[in-house]
Amino acid sequence: MTEPLKTTVLISGGGSNLQALIDARDSGRLNVDITHVISNVADAGGLDRAERAGISSSVLPHGDFDSRDAFDRALALLIAASAPDLVVLAGFMRIIGAPVLEPFQGRLINLHPSLLPLYRGTETYRRAIESGDRQHGASIHFVTAQLDGGPVISQVTIPIETQDSPDTLAARLSPEEHALIVATVELFTRHRVECADDVVLVDGLTLVQPLQLQADGRLDP
Ligand code: GRF
Repeated sequence: MTEPLKTTVLISGGGSNLQALIDARDSGRLNVDITHVISNVADAGGLDRAERAGISSSVLPHGDFDSRDAFDRALALLIAASAPDLVVLAGFMRIIGAPVLEPFQGRLINLHPSLLPLYRGTETYRRAIESGDRQHGASIHFVTAQLDGGPVISQVTIPIETQDSPDTLAARLSPEEHALIVATVELFTRHRVECADDVVLVDGLTLVQPLQLQADGRLDP
């Protein structure tokens, strides 16, 4: 077996996606070493999940910094201290800039609750419902300077039901996000995915469309 992929997870909230990664690690599906969890929110529920799983964590409150740049520089140092192969933004609700992007280029991925390029930013569920969309979903993309605009690796799609509210849609999407994040990180553990010149390569081949999560939990082109 190859070395576990050293993975740092950034969170701001409940950390259910972090939990999905922990569970997949514990079941043996994911060959990851979740070396550190970083939250910008002191009472994020995900910090308890990290503690229960025996994973070290840090809190870096963005309000403690005079500028976005100062926060980013401190965050970059903290990430570097855990020497990750991969950095997963799993519900991390801060925009990150050059001090983080540059040293970790190609190793930063973000989970976003929409079918990118649709609905970058916040309130994606409400926006999708109000637009009359028939389907919604989640995407995992490499992080670049463009908000939710980096090359997309993988997606999961679910139908929007006529009676859906933003809350019911988010609740139905959540378990699918968990499956998506596990399947996508699994690709990284197998060293099957990389980013070159803003293009995603899977097994060395350019990805034309994002990989789609299948019912069996696998990702197919
Ligand atoms: C997820 O729905 C993710 O798409 C969004 O924030 C949520 C994080 O949930 N960006 P959790 O903290 O992993 O439970």
